[in-house]
Amino acid sequence: MPKFMNVNLESLKPTIKSLLQIEERSPEDRLTAVCELLRERIDYYDWVGFYFANDAKRELHLKSFAGEPTNHTVIPFGKGICGQVAENNSNFVVPDVEEQDNYISCGVLVKAEIVIPLFKDGKNIGQIDVDSHSIDPFTEEDERFLEWVNKAVSEIL
Ligand code: SME
Repeated sequence: MPKFMNVNLESLKPTIKSLLQIEERSPEDRLTAVCELLRERIDYYDWVGFYFANDAKRELHLKSFAGEPTNHTVIPFGKGICGQVAENNSNFVVPDVEEQDNYISCGVLVKAEIVIPLFKDGKNIGQIDVDSHSIDPFTEEDERFLEWVNKAVSEIL
């Protein structure tokens, strides 16, 4: 159970599916709509974005997001939490960003972060990244939920 019970994560799934299926919109716009929904409805999600890998350059590129614009639209593999997930293929939950050495700050208000890799046909092609202004807000329920979001996104890519 999430620590901040403002919304039942399960209840957001039908809306996410619907937003992803609006074929008149580009995939990028559909992902932006999903980011906006998550940021608006989950009070400890303060910035939500999708990065995608450019394997030739070994870089992540920000494709869609909701929240404050960030300077970090391109992140080299291995750098920061995002860059580590690009290489390790594993979920990365950071309860307190101040305890991370390899971390790229996207704002002084950010206290915690969760990054979940996005797989397409078994390949790590990108990730969803959520920043929180609350300390230690993310639970396994967030991990399972964001894994589900990424799987739904992979189906439209
Ligand atoms: N904090 C991330 C960088 C991306 S911003 O959170 C938008 C990191 O350390 O990789």
